[in-house]
Amino acid sequence: MGTAAQLGYLGIEVSHVGAWRRFAREVLGLAIGPPRPDGALPLRMDGHAQRFLLHEGPKDDVAYIGWELANPAALDAVARRLGRAGVSVHSGTAEESAVRGVQGLHWFEDPNDIRVELAYGAARAMDPFVSERMRSGFRTGSQGMGHVLVNARSNAETERFYREVLGFMLTDYVNAEVSGHPLHAVFLHVNPRHHSLAFAELPIPKRLHHVMLEVNSIDDVGAAFDRCQELGVPLQRTIGRHQNDRMVSFYGYTPSGFCFEVGWGAREIDDRSWEVKVYPGASEWGHRPVAQA
Ligand SMILES: [Fe+2]
Repeated sequence: MGTAAQLGYLGIEVSHVGAWRRFAREVLGLAIGPPRPDGALPLRMDGHAQRFLLHEGPKDDVAYIGWELANPAALDAVARRLGRAGVSVHSGTAEESAVRGVQGLHWFEDPNDIRVELAYGAARAMDPFVSERMRSGFRTGSQGMGHVLVNARSNAETERFYREVLGFMLTDYVNAEVSGHPLHAVFLHVNPRHHSLAFAELPIPKRLHHVMLEVNSIDDVGAAFDRCQELGVPLQRTIGRHQNDRMVSFYGYTPSGFCFEVGWGAREIDDRSWEVKVYPGASEWGHRPVAQA
């Protein structure tokens, strides 16, 4: 996809919009925008007019993953690559573009039946983003909104598709035992963010395992961790540091049952000197599982 691409937006189907409103604002420190033309609820975290779109529905899982490209020519180039690989690429409707706040989009289904969108021209907000809860702000910009880890049917097929067809770049692998289960995870990047897309074959029914938001200060990680406990948001893993991206983070459960990760301090990638490694563990310290009551 080239290094100008970024994880631009994430569409989620949620059954409890009210719980999400509170969670997004009080826990993650996101701002809620006015409903989109189809009723979807947009969430803001930076200069983009929206980064999350919440669609009411029963799935409580990812609805689509939006990759933002630099311009229409970049979008067309990726669409041609997909076409040559035999992937059916569809043009988004004017309404779909209006809902996402982009100038144009194409979409297709990846090997995990996740709807993937390629878009350009994302709308910027009129006013700067300020969060009472995440005072340091989110680290986004050219690194995109964060990363997602999805549940792959096949790591090999998903890796082949994203690297060979879409041009994502390999970052590294984790081959570890986590909480008594083997974990084989693949990490890919499209810009200096260590990974914008990760995947593993997980024993869970959902396609989305977690979405990660990175903040500019470790204090906002700690304060968010405290808020979860104060507000009764279930935690999944305690604060810890990952071996591969070196991010300090914790995990909790969203109102939809998939996880979120709030992190700080990840290292960046310089493709001229990056060496792909295989890590024997997910975390250097911490990230201990939290038993659910
Ligand atoms: Fe993560």
